[in-house]
Amino acid sequence: MKNIILGVTGSISAYKAADIANGLVKAGHNVNVIMTEAAKGFITPLTMQSLTKNRVYSGVLQEEDPSIIAHIELAKTADALLIAPATANIIGKLAVGIADDMLTSCVLAVKDIPKMIAPAMNCRMYENEAVQDNLGRLGARGWRIIEPRSGRLACGDTGKGALAPVDDIILLVKEALGEKA
Ligand SMILES: Cc1cc2nc3c(=O)[nH]c(=O)nc-3n(C[C@H](O)[C@H](O)[C@H](O)COP(=O)(O)O)c2cc1C
Repeated sequence: MKNIILGVTGSISAYKAADIANGLVKAGHNVNVIMTEAAKGFITPLTMQSLTKNRVYSGVLQEEDPSIIAHIELAKTADALLIAPATANIIGKLAVGIADDMLTSCVLAVKDIPKMIAPAMNCRMYENEAVQDNLGRLGARGWRIIEPRSGRLACGDTGKGALAPVDDIILLVKEALGEKA
């Protein structure tokens, strides 16, 4: 059993994070979910808590256990980090090292483990130079970028930006952990 941090951000495809969490739990892993404030507008912490049997982390100042500092402890004990879906916003924040919430604070404290990020957004946003530049920066720092799919998007546009298939994402996490598919 490995400890996996699953960061969930405010994308229309956040509901797919439930299937990702479920798949990783069924594969025998301990999944700690960190949701941004925006993510909670798309899927409830209760869903993620029920699937993972763990409390869901969100507010960086909401310290429930006085004996630890949650974002540091999570980072120290993690074997892999996945952010899926990842908004343009989180990609930008990670690219420049902002730590203004639980997820970004935890990510900065993570060291020497596989880090994967699955962008999901409107195709026009995905094509934006700033987003591409930020993804390039993350890639150069060793992040595995799980490319979005092309197709018809939730907004009605057709183009590249849909979250990669859930099964592919789960497979990549397993591979990163050194497990057979
Ligand atoms: C209906 C709706 C769908 C959205 N979907 C996305 C999305 O798929 N990708 C994205 O980058 N932003 C999306 N946004 C905008 C983000 O929610 C917004 O940028 C937010 O600040 C992201 O915060 P976070 O990165 O902290 O989760 C969406 C907004 C709305 C209202």
